[in-house]
Amino acid sequence: MGHTHSKTKMMNQEFDHKLRVYSNITQLIASPQNPTPLVRLDRINPNKDFQIYLKLERYNPFGSVKDRIVSEMLKGLEIGSRTVAEPSSGNTGIALACVANALGIPVHIAVPGGIPEEKKVILRFLGARVRECDDALCPLFPTEGARGLVDTLVKSAATKDSFISPNQYENEKNVQAHYQTTGPEIWQQTKGKTNYFFAGFGTCGTITGVGRYLKEQNPEIRIIGVEPSSPDHKLPGMKRITGLDEELVPKILDRSVIDNTVEVTDEDAYRTAIELARKDGIPVGPTTGAILYVALQYARSNRGLAVVISPDDAFKYASFYKDVLEAEAREIREEAYALIDDNKSNQNLVIIDVRTPEEYANGHIEKSINLDYHSETFKDELDKLDKSKTYLVYCRTGDRSGITSVIMKELSFAEVYDMLGGIVAWEARGNGGEGK
Ligand SMILES: Cc1ncc(COP(=O)(O)O)c(C=O)c1O
Repeated sequence: MGHTHSKTKMMNQEFDHKLRVYSNITQLIASPQNPTPLVRLDRINPNKDFQIYLKLERYNPFGSVKDRIVSEMLKGLEIGSRTVAEPSSGNTGIALACVANALGIPVHIAVPGGIPEEKKVILRFLGARVRECDDALCPLFPTEGARGLVDTLVKSAATKDSFISPNQYENEKNVQAHYQTTGPEIWQQTKGKTNYFFAGFGTCGTITGVGRYLKEQNPEIRIIGVEPSSPDHKLPGMKRITGLDEELVPKILDRSVIDNTVEVTDEDAYRTAIELARKDGIPVGPTTGAILYVALQYARSNRGLAVVISPDDAFKYASFYKDVLEAEAREIREEAYALIDDNKSNQNLVIIDVRTPEEYANGHIEKSINLDYHSETFKDELDKLDKSKTYLVYCRTGDRSGITSVIMKELSFAEVYDMLGGIVAWEARGNGGEGK
C-alpha cells in the first residue's frame, strides 16, 4: 500500500466548515464552501466607480495561494517510496512541506538564492531539505536554477527512482485547482459582478485557471496579468514572461484568456504594499503590491468591479521590507538635512532643539533655538511661535522631537519637520554642531 491510498482516506475524513472543526490541517484549504475573504479597499482607492476587492490568499492554512494547488497536485501522484522534489520561490515549498508532513512523505525544495531568508528558515523548520540554487528569480536557461535542479533529479539515471516532482510549471492540476476553487469563489463572492481580474504571472496557474473560469461565466470580464519590469527583480513568486525563452514560459499558461499584460517596477510594487498597509491596514507581500499597483492605474480611467489576487502576506518578507524602510528613513532624514543646508541662506526656517539646556550647550545645530521638552512651560512657549513659518525639530535620537512635532501639529503649525535619528544621526553623517 503506497501513500496514495492512505492519503485519500485521510482527505475523506470528516470536517465542518461552519463549526470550523477538522480532522486534518489540509481540510482548511480554501474552496467554494470555505472561500478566502474578499476585502474592499476604500482608503488606498477612493474611486467609488472602480471598486477594488483584494482576495486574501493568506487565509489558506499554510499562508498562500499555493496551498490550493499542492493537495490537488499530490492527488493521483504515484509517490510510492520516493521523495517529492519541487522548485519553488517559497510558497509552494511551504505548502508542499506541510501537506507532505501530514502524509508522512519526505520533501526536497529547490529555491533560488534570491528569496528572503525567512522563507528558507520556515522550509527548514518544516523539515524540508532545502536546496539553494545560485540563480536569479527569473533564470534565462531551462537547465539552470531551481527548475533545472529538480528536472535533473527526476530525470537522471542516478536519481530518477528516488525522486518524483509534481512540477507546478507543467501540471494541469495547478490550473484545475484555480478553475475549481479560486475562480468559482470570486464569481460567487461578487455575485457575478466581476468586471476585472488582476493576477501575477508565476507558474501561471492562477491567471490561467481563474481567467478561464471567469471568461466562461462572462466573456466580457477583462483578465490582466502583471509581470516584473525586469527579469532581475525582487518579487519572489512572479516571473517576467515577456521576452522569456519559449522553453521557459510555463507550459500551463493559456495566453488566450489574457487581455493585457502590464509591467511593474520593484519600487512601485514595494511602495504600493507599504501604502496599503498604512492606509487600509492590510499587511501583504510585495507581489500583491505589484498587482494592486496595476489595478490602481486602471481605477483612474475605468469603471466596474475589480478583483485583485493577493498571493500572500507581509511577514515572510520582513527582511526585504527592512531594506526598503531603511532607505525611506534615510530619505526623510536627508530631506531634513537639506532644509538645514538651505537655511544658511533662507531665514524662513526655524530650527528647534528640544533637548535640555545642558545638552544644547554641549553642541547644537547652527542657528537653532533651544526649548526644553521637559520644561513645565514647553507647550505654552511653542504656542507663542509664529505658526506660519516652517519648523524643523530635533533632539538627541528622535523621540522627544517626534512627540514635539505631534504637539505642534495639534497647535495648528503649518509645516513641521521632525529630524529622524536626531543630532546623533546628523553628526554620524559627518556634520558638526555649534558650541562644542
Ligand atoms: C507570492 C506569489 N506566489 C505565486 C505567484 C504566481 O502565481 P502562479 O504561480 O499561480 O502564477 C505570485 C504571483 O503574483 C505570487 O505573488
